[in-house]
Order: sequence, then structure tokens, then C-alpha cells
Amino acid sequence: MKITLLDPGVERDPYPLYRTLREGFPLVHDEMLGAWLLSRYADVRAALGDVRLGSAAVGPSPAYRRLLEPALRTAAERTAHVLARRMAGRREVDLVAEFSDWLPAAAAVAALGLPWEEAVQVREWCRTGSARSGGCHPELGGLLRPHVTRRRAHPGTDLLSVLCAARVDGQPLSDETVTALAGTLLTGGGEATARALASFLANLLDHPAQLDLVRARPGLIPGAWAESLRRDPPTPVVLRRASAPVALGGATLPAGAVVACLIGSAGRDPFRFADPDRYDIFRADPAHLAFGAGRHFCPATTLAGLAAECGLRALLDAMPGLRWAPGFRPAPRGLMARAPRLLLVRPR
Ligand code: HEM
Repeated sequence: MKITLLDPGVERDPYPLYRTLREGFPLVHDEMLGAWLLSRYADVRAALGDVRLGSAAVGPSPAYRRLLEPALRTAAERTAHVLARRMAGRREVDLVAEFSDWLPAAAAVAALGLPWEEAVQVREWCRTGSARSGGCHPELGGLLRPHVTRRRAHPGTDLLSVLCAARVDGQPLSDETVTALAGTLLTGGGEATARALASFLANLLDHPAQLDLVRARPGLIPGAWAESLRRDPPTPVVLRRASAPVALGGATLPAGAVVACLIGSAGRDPFRFADPDRYDIFRADPAHLAFGAGRHFCPATTLAGLAAECGLRALLDAMPGLRWAPGFRPAPRGLMARAPRLLLVRPR
């Protein structure tokens, strides 16, 4: 039997293949993909943390993150409320097209104090996937440079002005650093965050009793978000290349081998999670791998969590009767980038 992630049908529902892999082929070469598939939780975790399996992305360091987070929280709260209130009076809306796809990019644009028209461009770059996790779109430099020059001459109170005026280790940030940080914020993980938010909303709408609990006790939101990331990670496959021979899943792979870490499969591994298909906001130890593990662990987990928390709170405030539109069922799709593409709801 030839095993490949590229089989038709896997994009719609990868879970039967993930189960087959975990149970019988914990490490197997996918010839069509050109990568070794790793599907058990323990193996995926070990691979993500293995320094011989490289990844080229660079992200904001903790010093920079402390500059970004307060401004982003305020902007995410405001933006989420504006987007939620715009939909609240309508009979039926699609939360993907009108909310989850917009919130991460629009919140970053608002935090940086950029004009709203630029949210449209940034959202398009995020949606077309032209910015990989952690990377910046090449044209962002051109979009940002005039704004950086203007903030240097006439500082305001927005995040771009804060970055222009900031000192890290006593040194001001260069234009390149400011542009790179703002660019990462705008497109670096916006697409992954948008997908994760769509899956989060789908999981809660699918479980109205848990949604009611979260509405009554917002302190439950972080656990509910983590559980959604475990069950439905927005980036279910992370590719890595071995820089040296590496022992994984019971075999030794040569230098140069490409490894596909199946985060989506690891999150449903019954050896790690009891009843893994179930969405349960009270799961004692979600310990998901949706943000990776080890050296390349996503540096923006707090930023992504802000979008989830502010987004959900704003929707629940604006939409007391939030529920699926009659007869609607979400249908997540995607192999490397997975989420429902449509979330039809009744706001009231
Ligand atoms: C729910 C949203 C997000 C998810 C699920 C996610 C997931 C991930 C994963 C799995 C990795 C590890 C990749 C690997 O091991 O090779 C990663 C790395 C990274 N992410 Fe995220 N991410 C999210 C949001 C963001 C955001 C909002 C940003 C930027 C503002 C961002 C920036 C980065 C960067 C720079 C890296 C590379 C870290 C390194 O290699 O050292 N991510 N992310």
C-alpha cells in the first residue's frame, strides 16, 4: 500500500489516515510528498524539539514582545467589538468572512495606527498564504517604510511610534528592525491565527453547553482555546529538514531527509489523550503541539491567544443568542492549513 498525505479525501478528513499511520506506520516515507511522516505524539514532540531538524524562521524576541503585547490587546479588544457589533443585528452571518478572517490583520493594522485601507491589503496577503508562519510578505517593507519615516518625524501614540521611539539594551531600533517587527505582526501568523479562531468558534458552537459555561465564566477561555488547538490545529503539518542523521520513530534518517511532523495526528493520539476526538474544555492537560515545541516554539502564543480571547468575548457580548444557523454544519478543509471556510450563525 502506498501511503500519502496527498490522497484525494485526506484534505477533507485526514483523521482516518492519521489513525492508520499511528497504529501501523509511525515513521513512513511519503514518496509523493517527498517527506517522512511522523504521526505519534511522542515522536512529533521529539522531532519538533530536535536541533538537527532545522527551521529558518525568525521571530520577535521576548524584549520586543513586551513592547507589542499591551498595544495589541487594546487594539484587538476594540477591533473585535467593532466587527462583532457590525454583525449583531443581522439575521444570519458568516463568522469566517466577517470576523475570524479579519480580526488578526485588522487588530494589527489598528495597533500600528495604519490607515484602514491597508487592512484590506494585509488581509489579502494573509489569506493568499503568501506570508508563511513567522515570515513577512516581501511587499510589506514598501507599505511600511513611508509610515516609519513619518513616525520618526512626527511621533504619535500608536505602536509604530512606540517601536520607533523604543530602546532595547539601550539602543534605538533601526528602521529595518521596526519594519521587520511590524511586518511580522501584520502577516507573520495572521493566517494561522484566523484559522485557529474559526476552529475555536466552531468547536464552541458545536458544544452549546460548554459555550454557555465559557460565557458565564470567561476565565475558562484559555483552556477552551488550548483544547481547540489540540483537537484542530490550524497548521497540522510542520515540515523540517535534517541537518545531520537523526534517530526518530525507531529508525535513523539521513542528513537532508525531510520530516513531516503531523501535529494534527499527535493531538489525537489516544496514547497521550483520553477520548482524543472529543472537545472538552476541562481536559486536565491539553499539552498540545499546535505551537510547535523546543527551539522553534512559536514566539507569538500570547498574541494569538489575545485574538482568541478578545474575539470570543466581543462576539458573546454582542450576540446573546449566538448559535448555528438552522441545518448548518461546519466542514473543515485543508491539509497543511486547516479550518472551516464557512461558519453560518444566527447572532440573536
Ligand atoms: C494560532 C496561531 C498560531 C499558530 C498555531 C502558530 C504555529 C506555529 C508553529 C507550529 C511554529 C513552529 C514551526 C516549526 O517548528 O518549524 C511556529 C513558529 C513561529 N511562529 Fe507561530 N503560530 C501562530 C501565530 C503566530 C503569530 C501571530 C506570529 C507573529 C506575530 C507567529 C510567528 C511565528 C514565528 C516567527 C515562528 C518561528 C519561530 C522559530 O523558528 O524560532 N506565529 N508557529
